[in-house]
Amino acid sequence: MRAISARWRKLLAHRRQTLMQAAGDGAILILPAAPERIRSRDTYYPYRQDSDFWYLTGCAEPEAVLVLVPGRRHGESILFCRERDPEREGWDGPRLGPEGAVAALGLDDAYPITDIDEILPGLLEGRRRVYYPLGRDAEFDLKLIGWLNRVRAQARQGAQPPQEFLALGHLLDEMRLFKSAEEIALMQKAVDISVQAHRAAMRAARPGIREYELQAELEYVFRRHGAQPAYPCIVGAGANACILHYGANSARARAGALVLIDAGAEYAGYAADITRTFPVSGRFTRAQRALHDLVGRAQAAALAQAQPGRPFSAMHEAAVHTLADGLLALGLLRGRLQDVIANGDYQRYYRHKTGHWLGLDVHDAGEYRIDGASRLLEPGMVVTIEPGLYIPVDDATVAPEWRGLGIRIEDDVLITRDGPRVLSAALERSADEIEALMGR
Ligand code: GLY
Ligand code: MN
Ligand code: MN
Repeated sequence: MRAISARWRKLLAHRRQTLMQAAGDGAILILPAAPERIRSRDTYYPYRQDSDFWYLTGCAEPEAVLVLVPGRRHGESILFCRERDPEREGWDGPRLGPEGAVAALGLDDAYPITDIDEILPGLLEGRRRVYYPLGRDAEFDLKLIGWLNRVRAQARQGAQPPQEFLALGHLLDEMRLFKSAEEIALMQKAVDISVQAHRAAMRAARPGIREYELQAELEYVFRRHGAQPAYPCIVGAGANACILHYGANSARARAGALVLIDAGAEYAGYAADITRTFPVSGRFTRAQRALHDLVGRAQAAALAQAQPGRPFSAMHEAAVHTLADGLLALGLLRGRLQDVIANGDYQRYYRHKTGHWLGLDVHDAGEYRIDGASRLLEPGMVVTIEPGLYIPVDDATVAPEWRGLGIRIEDDVLITRDGPRVLSAALERSADEIEALMGR
């Protein structure tokens, strides 16, 4: 595990302080680490820490619980974690241990996880509100109920059990939505690695190549930079590009086909999420280029709305307007623009939304609507802008040259006071840029 710098320790402590302030005195906040998950029999999935837990602790270990007790005199930030164990560490790698955790993560106190049943009821007692991500980890939910019932059982002896239970996410998601300069730097790094990976895949493309060979190119670049996929790489050749979360990645890319790659690195916990669509042979056909240009125009229209003070939904509306207009111009849809938008005809070819928050999770935390209305964009938010068009392979209403084309262009955008900053701007995007890259 990489040592955490003094600067990050301070940043983590600051996050915990901010959260405790929002929760207020009388609250207790409880957050378990992600459980380990079995992949098959006795093999586990590679461990990925819970994003909230990572955000507040910087601790990558399983079997740990963060407890924040605002105003507690003997320490507000408490971690329960595994004890040092030379025998187990010889198998699984080093552990912080409670003493190490206090020093490394800047906590007030830490205890062995095996003592949590003894200690947690005492921390709950006298606290009015419990903030906890209920329903995320059913096994832990039951443990918490057990600790609560232990306090309730003592009520006649004067113990005061908590009365209110609140979603921790309500406070935490709001914090995670706004990225600090330090987080932006890590996200830029995740994006930069992803840009290199997409270029490597485009350069490796040739007719007949398997989708998984292109996936290997991407993941090689990720791993070489200490990153990993933030989500399973989508590499869809030909009509596979129309399957939005295509994951088989096993087909061959035939000459003349487009390949859609949606892949992003996760670096230090932060995700990139980038899509490019390119011709496996290095040259777009006329129809492919027309559709690619249209998606590009839709992305530009959405990007123009990525301004502080504009509603989140304005990006989608701008993309839909441009796509619908273009589909009519190309003869892929018939009718009047306002009807095609109002009655949802365009959804035949554009089935998803134009973006989402991006951060520690690829579909990051944060509300999209407030009091029933689309949320206004603010500096520090990071969004994806990812319009696409997907013409079903069996769509007999369009000429054969359009059938089975799937195109998406996805970039990662920071909202700043001065407008959008496209973190992934370096990656070739237009048909001309892509052809030039692939021709080199
Ligand atoms: N890669 C998932 C998405 O684009 O939302
Ligand atoms: Mn996305
Ligand atoms: Mn994506």
